[in-house]
Amino acid sequence: MTAQTIFVTGGSRGLGLAIVETLLGQGHSVASFSRSVTSELQALKDKYPETLLITQGDLTDADATTAALERVIATSNGLDSMILNGASPGPLKRMVDVTPSELAEVYAANVLSILPLYRAALPSLRKSGGRLIVLSSGASEQGFEGTGAYAGTKAAVNRIVEVLGLEEPDVTFIAVNPGLVKTDMSAAVLASSAHTMKPETHERIKAAHAAGMAQPPAVPAAAIAALALRAPKELSGRYIASFGPEAKALLEG
Ligand SMILES: NC(=O)c1ccc[n+]([C@@H]2O[C@H](COP(=O)([O-])OP(=O)(O)OC[C@H]3O[C@@H](n4cnc5c(N)ncnc54)[C@H](OP(=O)(O)O)[C@@H]3O)[C@@H](O)[C@H]2O)c1
Repeated sequence: MTAQTIFVTGGSRGLGLAIVETLLGQGHSVASFSRSVTSELQALKDKYPETLLITQGDLTDADATTAALERVIATSNGLDSMILNGASPGPLKRMVDVTPSELAEVYAANVLSILPLYRAALPSLRKSGGRLIVLSSGASEQGFEGTGAYAGTKAAVNRIVEVLGLEEPDVTFIAVNPGLVKTDMSAAVLASSAHTMKPETHERIKAAHAAGMAQPPAVPAAAIAALALRAPKELSGRYIASFGPEAKALLEG
């Protein structure tokens, strides 16, 4: 496969870091965007100095995100894919305790941040017939106590992706639920669950982690990379799971 150029947000740790590593390992050029540069991300830069570009900034700073993206587009042969993975778990509190500014902050990071990025990416993605993958969550389908602010952002992402799929025939848009993944975010939800969830919900989440149901990031990362590189147009506008049949077919194909 010809090497592609992919812009990934939240590449410093967790699932984003694993997506960056997977794409680099397959010979693609990757630009990572996050606030911090972890030792793991720096180690990837040392291993792939020519094909990894690290850019830094806050997702809520539209000037920073679009400047990073425009730099990638200007210095590469355009853009083939963008993976909007970076997100905040937001305030892990019961809704009654969430303040308006906390709610605004998590919507700014998880929803509003994607708008300037897709607007800046669209001309290039239309030209390449590229793909825009946005990380969603099972929380977009089913809420859990203490995660209402976050769950609302992911439901919003699904609808934005669905409508973009209808409006933009030359680009493939997909919202992906990666399942439960062993990262800082799932650890934060587990840690807060004792205080925010009903005992039975807390026990279910604890049991899922204890049973090893939280996947290593490399597992969903492989499926998400495959979707970003070669998802067919028919999937555009859809919300799918990284462990579902659509991604499996691409991984096996
Ligand atoms: N883990 C799960 O079980 C799970 C389940 C369903 C969906 N997801 C989704 O999968 C995606 C990745 O989650 P994860 O578990 O890997 O999360 P994570 O471990 O918390 O990592 C989040 C990433 O996003 C970046 N980020 C967060 N806020 C940012 C901001 N304001 N500006 C710039 N970068 C920011 C972080 O980088 P810096 O801190 O360096 O900026 C980090 O690289 C998210 O969209 C999440 O909603 C995860």
